[in-house]
Amino acid sequence: MNLTKDFFITLSQNKLLTKGAKRWGLQLGAQTVVAGTNIPEMIRSVQELNSQGISATIDNLGEFVFEKSEALEAKEQILHVIEAIHENGVDAHISLKPTQLGLDIDAHFCLGNLREIVHAAHHYDIFINFDMEDYGHLQPSFDLIDELSKEYDNIGTVIQAYFYQSDEIIEKYKDFRLRIVKGAYKEPENLAYQGKNDIDKNYLKLIEYHLLNGKFTSIATHDHHVINHVKKFVRENNISNDKFEFQMLYGFRKDLQLKLASEGYNFCTYVPFGHDWYGYFMRRLAERPQNLQLVSKQLFNK
Ligand code: FDA
Repeated sequence: MNLTKDFFITLSQNKLLTKGAKRWGLQLGAQTVVAGTNIPEMIRSVQELNSQGISATIDNLGEFVFEKSEALEAKEQILHVIEAIHENGVDAHISLKPTQLGLDIDAHFCLGNLREIVHAAHHYDIFINFDMEDYGHLQPSFDLIDELSKEYDNIGTVIQAYFYQSDEIIEKYKDFRLRIVKGAYKEPENLAYQGKNDIDKNYLKLIEYHLLNGKFTSIATHDHHVINHVKKFVRENNISNDKFEFQMLYGFRKDLQLKLASEGYNFCTYVPFGHDWYGYFMRRLAERPQNLQLVSKQLFNK
């Protein structure tokens, strides 16, 4: 199981395949978990979700950005997404990754790009979530958030429960709207819990902490055990539905997404789109090798 996970994480980090995949278009079943390659396709998916009582957080996919021109292109595209959210009146906000906006090139350049995005979103009262990547980008991403939160209040971020230091981080950022996740990257033993039980235990601890002490909590998981635990916890602690939401990725556990929305919980689907689907798709296969069924169905249907 772990070998499979490592295999797909390694594939997700392959720069050549990442570049090649941009030219192939959505392949291998990726179209079931990626909402198209362009803004109109993505907006149609968001409208469909909205019609089912589900909001969206939109991710313009992009990995391994080492050229300023690529980061500027990503910034322009995200600015177009902000305009599209406003023009179409959809219930959606943005998720972004600082590396796509140039964090690996120059932190100051990245900050300038992010400031433009956050400013444009602020104008329309649109929230921007800073996704969290691997450990090497953790502190640099928080530095950007610290800087931008001096000027803007429409930003929030992600807490990854596998990191030992996640309880210190959540304490520091408790006044932010936070998405809490288990953690998707491969991290070493000296930094992060490795076993499922340890990660799940810390995950529940962080969720409970932020539900009781924090601003708004996005519980981002496909794990029904966690979801059931949260339902019970909020009931027992009189936490109202407007203090939290559940989030899942586009294309995953659609029945459960609809069920939670119909039960009156706030539900938000993470909607990735764009040509740079490969790394995202490989990480999904790493998390759940059963997702390989998506690939085999596509191959055998050809
Ligand atoms: P996990 O994979 O641990 O599964 C637990 C159990 O849930 C399984 O054993 C099974 O019973 C059930 N289950 C899970 N998936 C299922 C499925 N598809 N069908 C049926 N049953 C299923 N990570 C990160 O590092 N940075 C980030 O910014 C984000 N952002 C983010 C946003 C959103 C909206 C989500 C949902 C996730 C992220 N993640 C993330 C990824 C996250 O860290 C984590 O890797 C995945 O969500 C996988 O963990 P789960 O909690 O979903 O369940």
